[in-house]
Formats: sequence, structure tokens, C-alpha cells
Amino acid sequence: MPADKTQQSSARPPSGNADYQWAAFDSEAYFQHYYGEPHPDDDRVIRCAVETIKGAPPAGAELDIVDVGTGPNLIPLFCALPRAARITAWEYAQSNVDWLKADLVRADMRPQWRHFWAVTRTAYGPDWDLPEDPIPALQAKATIRQGSIFDLPARRWDAATMFFCAESITERPDEFEAACATFARCVKQGGALIAAFLVRSAGYVVAERSFPVLSLSPDSIETVFAAHASGIKAEKIGIVEREIRSGYSGFIFLTGTAR
Ligand SMILES: C[S@@+](CC[C@H](N)C(=O)[O-])C[C@H]1O[C@@H](n2cnc3c(N)ncnc32)[C@H](O)[C@@H]1O
Repeated sequence: MPADKTQQSSARPPSGNADYQWAAFDSEAYFQHYYGEPHPDDDRVIRCAVETIKGAPPAGAELDIVDVGTGPNLIPLFCALPRAARITAWEYAQSNVDWLKADLVRADMRPQWRHFWAVTRTAYGPDWDLPEDPIPALQAKATIRQGSIFDLPARRWDAATMFFCAESITERPDEFEAACATFARCVKQGGALIAAFLVRSAGYVVAERSFPVLSLSPDSIETVFAAHASGIKAEKIGIVEREIRSGYSGFIFLTGTAR
């Protein structure tokens, strides 16, 4: 369990995003712990995201898509790739930015990425005629940007994804709300918002370093997004009683349309 769990139950004030050492985020340890052995929930996240991205407006057009807080994870980029003219990975930790750039130029695709790309291709279906190797197209379309979610430009992208970021960077509800607001507003009016959130988590540990998580429910997420999006749907998926990985026991999946 997270090392700071006991501290959380004490009277200390909640920690904010700036209180954590993101520069020391151990990208390879995170990748190995969370994605080293693919779990059926990862495949579910992919299927949920692909379902929404496939139908994202404007229908049939190639989209300019951002993923926020990408971390050492190519899954969001795989999900976006078939619909994307361009993809931006907007990540805060320089270690993760460097890791992503290095992973995109590896000579050999990691077996985990082969698995997740196969799940993505299946989720898109045979009509999409997707390549066996997604890396050349990703290299051509993806830009890895170092930046904070709080500094996202407004109304810049056609669609945005966010996997386990806004609730996993702070213990402060006001910061979570601010992060969701900048995420929702970085998309043009009418654009698709797609996000997955950790559920019932008290934090997570990467290479013995503790990181925060806010405890959320579908209702609390819908309330936060109500000011920024219409057609909001937040549902619990794959929730179990035990931790599958540090801080993870299932997810809430959100879709909506930017106002
Ligand atoms: C729990 S990880 C999620 C990583 C990845 N999206 C995934 O699904 O595995 C949280 C991510 O948020 C990033 N992060 C921390 N503070 C941030 C900020 N202010 N703006 C954007 N991303 C931030 C971290 O570096 C980390 O990559």
C-alpha cells in the first residue's frame, strides 16, 4: 500500500501538485509496474477510448488530438492514431518526456506495445485497415511536449484524452477541478473529451516514491465536468475489491462534449 496512507489519515493538509517530485518520476519503473504485464482492464480502457474516438466529431475528418499526462504510456497515442492528423502528448515530468521520445525511436517495439496495438486494431475493426506496426505513423504524427495540465492552451485541439492524470497529480480538490477545467477547455467547442480516472485509491507508489490520488465517484466527476461539457457520461468499469496494481482497483470512464 502507499507509504503515505497513514499520513493521509492524519490531520495534515492535502498535498498539491507542486509538493511532489515529478522530475524524479521513474518512468521505466512505472512502465514495468503498470504495463509490464498487460491486464484485461488495460484492454477495457482501450476499447472504451477507441469506441468514443471512432465516433468523435467531426465525423470522418482527421483530428488534431491531445493526450494529457501521457506518462510512460503509448496506449493513448495508439487509441488516437487511426483518427489523428496530429497527436500531442502533453506531459509534465521531463523523465517521462525523454522516455516517450526514446521509446518512439526504439528499433524493436516492446512486446507490451505489440499487445496493446493489437487490442487497438481489433477495437477499431477490420474496416480501418491499420498497419501491423504503428510506430512509423506515430513518429510522423506525434509531438511530445513538456507542459503542465494547468498551462494547456484554450480551444486548441479537436479532441482530448486523459488517462489517470487529473486525480493522480494532487490531493487537493481545487487543483483537481482546475486541472479538469483546463483539460476540458483545451478542446474546441463541440469536441470530444475522453478520460479515465482511478477509483477508490489512496495514492500510488513508483520506485518507492509516493504519489497522490484523489478519491472520486462518477457523480463527483460529472459534477466537476458539468460546467465545461455537455452529454457527460461517467461510469465505473472493472471495479474490484482489491488493488490490482499500486493504487489501482478499477476505473471510472468519462466521455463528454466540450461546451
Ligand atoms: C498516474 S500517472 C498516469 C500516466 C499515464 N497517463 C497512464 O495512463 O499510465 C500521472 C501522470 O501525470 C503527470 N503529471 C504530474 N503533474 C502534472 C501536471 N501538472 N500536468 C500534466 N501532467 C502531470 C505525471 O508525470 C504522470 O505521467
